[in-house]
Amino acid sequence: MSGPLTPPHAHTLTWSDALSLQMPVMDRTHVEFVDLLAAVDRSDDTALVARWAALVAHTVEHFGQEDAWMAATGFAPENCHATQHEVVLQVLREGLKAGEAGQLAVIRQMASELALWFPNHAQTMDASLALHMKSMGYDPETGRLAHPEQLPAQAISGCGGACSSDASTEADTAPQADISPAVA
Ligand SMILES: [Fe+2]
Ligand SMILES: [Fe+2]
Repeated sequence: MSGPLTPPHAHTLTWSDALSLQMPVMDRTHVEFVDLLAAVDRSDDTALVARWAALVAHTVEHFGQEDAWMAATGFAPENCHATQHEVVLQVLREGLKAGEAGQLAVIRQMASELALWFPNHAQTMDASLALHMKSMGYDPETGRLAHPEQLPAQAISGCGGACSSDASTEADTAPQADISPAVA
């Protein structure tokens, strides 16, 4: 517990063009996410739980927005991207409970793992969703769908190419292995 501001294996995340998905509404949300995570990283113990709570609240909106876009463009509700959102959010909420109970190290560990998880998620599942939306002319800001004929005949349960139904690829992008130990 000594030196909680500089945990020995902490990973931090900063925004870079490599994280841009060339979709402004998505990028704005992701920049905010990176900023909120950085605020957690920089936080002293006093502000840590509140900053984590702000990150969790933002993530509820962030994931909910993407889930709604998926629902509007032909994904099944239980598709692997939405499922990954649900799993990660559950873990973040567990972190909040632990933090509120005084286990600040759990939040610090989780923040570090989240910094590793996010670029992978953004560059696979979110990137794939962005391409999918563009391919059918879906405007996430207005909800207008320019090419409804492009909607898939069958609801998509994979990630529109990021994982499809390939179990090994899904395992590569699943967050459980990275984040779950932090709540054990
Ligand atoms: Fe995202
Ligand atoms: Fe996502």
